[in-house]
Amino acid sequence: MTRFARHLEHHTIVNPFPGIVKLEAALGHRIKTRIGSNESLPDPVSPLAGEFGKALAELARLYPDPYAHALRQRAAALNGVSADEVLFDTGADSLILLGLRLSCNAGDAVVTTGGSYPTFRYFAEGVGARVLEVPYLTQGDRLQPDLKRLAEVARVEHASVLYLANPDNPTGHYWQADDIRALREALPLHTLLLLDEAYVDFCTEAEDAPPAGPLPNTLRLRTLSKAYAMAGMRVGYAIAPAQLIAKADQIRPQFALSSVAQAAAQIVLDDPDYSRRLISHTLTLRHHLSHELYDLGLTPLPSHTNFVSVPYADPMQAEAIQRHLLTHGIAIHRPQHPATRHLLRITAHPQATSSRVLNALAGQLEP
Ligand SMILES: Cc1ncc(COP(=O)(O)O)c(C=O)c1O
Repeated sequence: MTRFARHLEHHTIVNPFPGIVKLEAALGHRIKTRIGSNESLPDPVSPLAGEFGKALAELARLYPDPYAHALRQRAAALNGVSADEVLFDTGADSLILLGLRLSCNAGDAVVTTGGSYPTFRYFAEGVGARVLEVPYLTQGDRLQPDLKRLAEVARVEHASVLYLANPDNPTGHYWQADDIRALREALPLHTLLLLDEAYVDFCTEAEDAPPAGPLPNTLRLRTLSKAYAMAGMRVGYAIAPAQLIAKADQIRPQFALSSVAQAAAQIVLDDPDYSRRLISHTLTLRHHLSHELYDLGLTPLPSHTNFVSVPYADPMQAEAIQRHLLTHGIAIHRPQHPATRHLLRITAHPQATSSRVLNALAGQLEP
């Protein structure tokens, strides 16, 4: 049912350097002497050790496990799937590109929502795809990805990939599990669904639980950038049927996910209270920010993420506010797409509710 890009369909690509962890598993014993990988000598006075500690210097010295075995086990347990249904890479963004490389031939149609997360288009253009945009469905001020129309365009255009951010960026909209399952069923079987769940950790209500397990011909993307405070480390993972994961593993730059990033990710995944605390604090800040905005007469979009977006009647007003805040050294985000450039997106953060920010958002541009 999965249709890979033509050059991958009947070809198995073999990784020339599968790494020490795989070798140990094949041998059934540890490798204690690593003199086959051309790594550097340990240096007791490394400047890295001085700044960050010996452990980091040692991790930096050694090639990482290309398959991030330890992380796959943890993410599999966390999501109730098996380890061969999980793959780690350098953030959800890298996984978007990986999904496109897996399924898309130059000239193929791919479908997204016009004004949604723009990195999908950026990467799709880079692989020579024909990007088709479906407008948001509007409900008053609210914007939501139009699942019916997305599926229809994918069907008519024989799309190789459909991208959906759920929750969506920048609208914050969230489609529940039944809607996502219905979308998958409405799509042609060969269309890869890139289901970007970068913000799903902030969907904590029981009725907002995402569908369980891997979905057919779907790469579900998760990240440690948001709910684990690791955006700078670049760690994300995909949940997908084992056949998709196995093919994705054949075309990934095998050492991209660094030893340091893998070790850091293990630490945060082993401490579930850490991300629970971060999520809970973020949700409190998001509620607080939304209420402050309502009190100022604004109508922030309902959000299932770690940000709040505010629609303005006119993109020029949004731009003036953004520019004003920038002159005070404060960066908020305004999307560039015509469908969403009337929005201002503000991260849930203690500094988002300063009087300077709130007054500016309400249109009072003090000098
Ligand atoms: C919808 C969406 N997907 C992916 C990402 C990037 O995630 P990562 O840092 O894991 O590459 C973002 C970042 O803002 C995002 O909004």
